[in-house]
Amino acid sequence: MLLNHARSRQVLFFGGKGGVGKTTVSAAVAYALANEGRRVLLVSTDPAHNLGHLFHREIGPRPVRLAPGLDGLELDPDATVNEHVDEVSGALQSLMPVHLHGEVDKHVSLSRDAPGMQEAAILEKIAEVVERGGKDYQHVIFDTAPSGHTARLMVLPEVMTAWTEGLIKRRERADRFAEFVRELGSDKALGENIVGDKDPEAEKESRIRGILNRRRLKFARLRDVLADAGTTSFVIVLVAERLPVLETIELHEQLVKAGLAINCLVVNKRLPEGAGEFLEERRGQERVHLAALEKALPKVPRQHLGLAAKDVTGLDALKEFSERLLAGAGS
Ligand SMILES: Nc1ncnc2c1ncn2[C@@H]1O[C@H](COP(=O)(O)OP(=O)(O)O)[C@@H](O)[C@H]1O
Ligand SMILES: [Mg+2]
Repeated sequence: MLLNHARSRQVLFFGGKGGVGKTTVSAAVAYALANEGRRVLLVSTDPAHNLGHLFHREIGPRPVRLAPGLDGLELDPDATVNEHVDEVSGALQSLMPVHLHGEVDKHVSLSRDAPGMQEAAILEKIAEVVERGGKDYQHVIFDTAPSGHTARLMVLPEVMTAWTEGLIKRRERADRFAEFVRELGSDKALGENIVGDKDPEAEKESRIRGILNRRRLKFARLRDVLADAGTTSFVIVLVAERLPVLETIELHEQLVKAGLAINCLVVNKRLPEGAGEFLEERRGQERVHLAALEKALPKVPRQHLGLAAKDVTGLDALKEFSERLLAGAGS
């Protein structure tokens, strides 16, 4: 079910609560597709460096070969924020008059810690990976962080507009002040020094807007790709427990509101049958929670994956786990 679904999509996102098996299941799908001879890129957006732990090796922001046909990379939110902020502040410093450099620094350092900044930086990387990865790979599979940033993705172009406009307003205010000084000034040369040349100023401003808007445009393009249900699909991974079920229903609602298609749920770590009285009781609990899921999301197909005896770690274990995808029952 899940694998069939994955075969027909170029971009796949795996989301869900921490510990439910996003990394394991997304890597297993990536492995299975690569095993069929497809070129696959597996991307983790979780700062916890999950892929490295699963594959027992260092994985960084550039693709590394994990298995035949399968490459992987890990995006680091902090590094990504710094990279972006440094780039923007460098460009702004070179374009803004010297007396505004303090303003730029202040705005930029506030932005570094602003809510949504990490997500925005990661989303920019996601946009780049989707754009570039689409050329070299048949499938780009994202193992996302538990924060559910994908759901907020659709509003980010607007957040970025606010950021851009905020900076430009500061600049305009400072310009007005400089103009005031010039009008006051008996010393014309001083005023001109502060204000600079009028026309090049307008040109600079449009370049600044250009730099800031570039990111917004990237988001807008990404949004188009994500909203295209024929290209992109979102998979929510969960376990059959109360909170993960509730959070799945919530995440599903957010994603749908954002105009994204959720075509598959993976119910992972299902308990085995006939494993004694205690587990039978837990299985009864699973049934209760799954009934709630069924009631809330009756139309979303789901795949069940059983609880393995051991953690899934290392390539051999992943290979074995990926075979379960073929055997796993749907409902
Ligand atoms: N079906 C399963 N059976 C047994 N262990 C599993 C199964 N799926 C995942 N695990 C284990 O559960 C832990 C959490 O899985 P992981 O994929 O890292 O979750 P997430 O990425 O959602 O935080 C890992 O130790 C993993 O090996
Ligand atoms: Mg993970």
